Order: sequence, then structure tokens, then C-alpha cells
Amino acid sequence: MKILVTGGSGLVGTAIKTISNEYNYEFIFLASKDCDLINYDETYKLFEKEQPDFVIHLAACVGGIFLNMKHKVDILEKNLLMNYNVVKCSHIFKVKKLIACLSTCIFPDKTSYPIDETMLHNGPPAETHYTYAYTKRLLEIHCKAYFENYGDNFICIIPTNIYGTNDNYSLEDGHVLPALIHRCYLAKKNREKFIVKGSGSALRQFIYAEDLAKLLLLTLEKYNEKTPLILSVDENTEYSIEYIARLIAKYFDYENNIEFNPKYSDGQLKKTACNKKLIEYLGDYKFIDIEDGVKTSVEWFINNYENARK
Ligand SMILES: NC(=O)c1ccc[n+]([C@@H]2O[C@H](COP(=O)([O-])OP(=O)(O)OC[C@H]3O[C@@H](n4cnc5c(N)ncnc54)[C@H](OP(=O)(O)O)[C@@H]3O)[C@@H](O)[C@H]2O)c1
Repeated sequence: MKILVTGGSGLVGTAIKTISNEYNYEFIFLASKDCDLINYDETYKLFEKEQPDFVIHLAACVGGIFLNMKHKVDILEKNLLMNYNVVKCSHIFKVKKLIACLSTCIFPDKTSYPIDETMLHNGPPAETHYTYAYTKRLLEIHCKAYFENYGDNFICIIPTNIYGTNDNYSLEDGHVLPALIHRCYLAKKNREKFIVKGSGSALRQFIYAEDLAKLLLLTLEKYNEKTPLILSVDENTEYSIEYIARLIAKYFDYENNIEFNPKYSDGQLKKTACNKKLIEYLGDYKFIDIEDGVKTSVEWFINNYENARK
């Protein structure tokens, strides 16, 4: 059985690659240089050539809050086209199962907590990243429509904040955790303060990319419903950005030099997600501790500084 992984060069794609030899599938890891998924003809030709049995669709124009606020149109157009092309070609080439990747940040801004799978369309998403959020919501609608009208097994998963090795460490465009790792690295190198944008009070659930990779493959084998599935750590495993920043500083041995700058946006103050449905379907799962995951990520960045995406 052949699995096409779009976004195969990204954070989650490379995590799947790391564990892929433990599975009995033929994997194809796709980067944008192999096929520009924004282009329908290229996408069609790729599917025609590879004839995948399964597709794990991770490719996206994705990043942190500052990227989302700066490039609204770009994010909207690129993600709409990529998602449309992948879903459409998965249908045309009779893919047995498509797993499309959403995000917990696309849930309504005003909501009750914890968030569960039924609440996705209950209100507008946060203003900070609404174009990204609406493209992901439409991806869910697109999969559901194919599921209902054509019986296609197109399902959606919803991860919380992901982190790990091979992340995008861009200071401006990256997600909060990798951007903080890069910022702390530079602060230590230049003997400056480690400045954390925002007050540090926002709360987040973080899932280690390799845990998500394992859960994605379990989902491939076990989950076949048209309603999405949240892939997250427990709702009680939620940390403040301040805690994460201090943890990063600890592994850089630079603990006494942190400064928070509340003039920057914190983004949503929390988006606590519930993983009850995940545990019901896939059984109990032992997630990597945040301390171990952050330590490994910091060490990886230090050892791969020259070649890391940044
Ligand atoms: N990171 C998070 O915290 C987070 C949280 C929730 C959900 N998600 C979702 O999880 C999925 C994976 O995220 P990630 O963090 O692994 O992303 P990432 O590291 O930024 O990687 C993005 C991937 O998309 C590919 N891509 C971008 N534009 C493309 C195009 N035009 N054609 C083909 N491929 C293209 C990139 O290929 P190149 O390397 O060749 O550019 C790369 O492999 C995404 O759908 C994202 O929305 C992420």
C-alpha cells in the first residue's frame, strides 16, 4: 500500500519519515520542489504517476501569528488552491483514504472550553489568523461533502500546536515555540536579553511531532468517520508561553536573561482542546513529556543551526 505524504519536508512530514521504517507501507514524501500543489495540472500529473492508495495531506502555507497577520491574502489563496487540488485529485484517482490536517486554532474565538470536534463551525475564528482558519474549515467541508455524496473515506484530524525537530525556526514567521528557541539561541550568542514577544500568559497544548506522526498512522488504520478527530495531549496538559520560554532558556543555560514584551499580541489566550474522542478510538497513548520534547528540540537546533529552516 502506497501513502503519499504532502508536506513531506515539513515538521510533521519529516517526523513521519523518521518513524516510517516501523510500518509496512511504501511512503512518498512530497516537497514543493517535487510538485507545486498550488498548480492543478502538476498535482493531477503527480497523482496519475503515483496512484497512491492513501494520502496524508499536510502541505500548507502555515506559520505563527505574525505571518498570519502580514500575509492574509497569500495564506488564503495558496491554501485554498492546494487543498482543492489535493482533495479533487484524491477523488479522481480513487484514493482509499485521505487524511486532511486542520488545526485547533481554527475553532471559534468565542467558545466554551474544552473545545471538542462538534464546535468547529459555531462562530468566527480569531481575527489574527482568520484567512488560514477559513481555508482549513473549507477543507473540512470539502472532505465531508465527498464523504456524503460519493462515499469517499476523506477524514480530517485536528492537531494542537506542534513542535519538534526540523521545525520552521523563522523569528518572524515561525510558530511560537521554534521562534522562541531561535530567539534564545541568538540572545545567548550575542549576550543580549532573551526577549519574549507578548506577556507570556497565553496557554497552549503542545504535541511533539513524532507523537502526532504515530497518531496519524493509527488514525489511518482505525478512524473512518466523516466528523473530524482532535489529535491532542490531555486538556490538563496546557502550558503558559512563559513556562515554555523558561524551559527553553533552561536548556540553553540562559535562564536569568528573559524579558517579556507585552506590547506584542498574545494571540488567543487559550484554546484548550479535549482529546476524549481520540482516547476512545485509539486507546490510551503515552505522550512525550514537554520537558523531554523541548530539550530534544533545543539540542537539535543547536546541532543543526546552519541547515535549519529559519
Ligand atoms: N506546526 C503547527 O504548530 C501546526 C499546528 C496545527 C496544525 N498544523 C498543520 O499541520 C500540517 C503540517 O504542518 P507543519 O508544521 O509540518 O508545516 P511546515 O513545517 O511549515 O511544512 C509545510 C510543508 O508544506 C509544503 N508546501 C508548502 N507549499 C507547498 C506547495 N505549494 N506545494 C507543495 N508543498 C508545499 C512544504 O514544502 P517545502 O518544504 O518544499 O516548502 C512543507 O513540506 C499543516 O497542514 C498545518 O496547517 C500545524
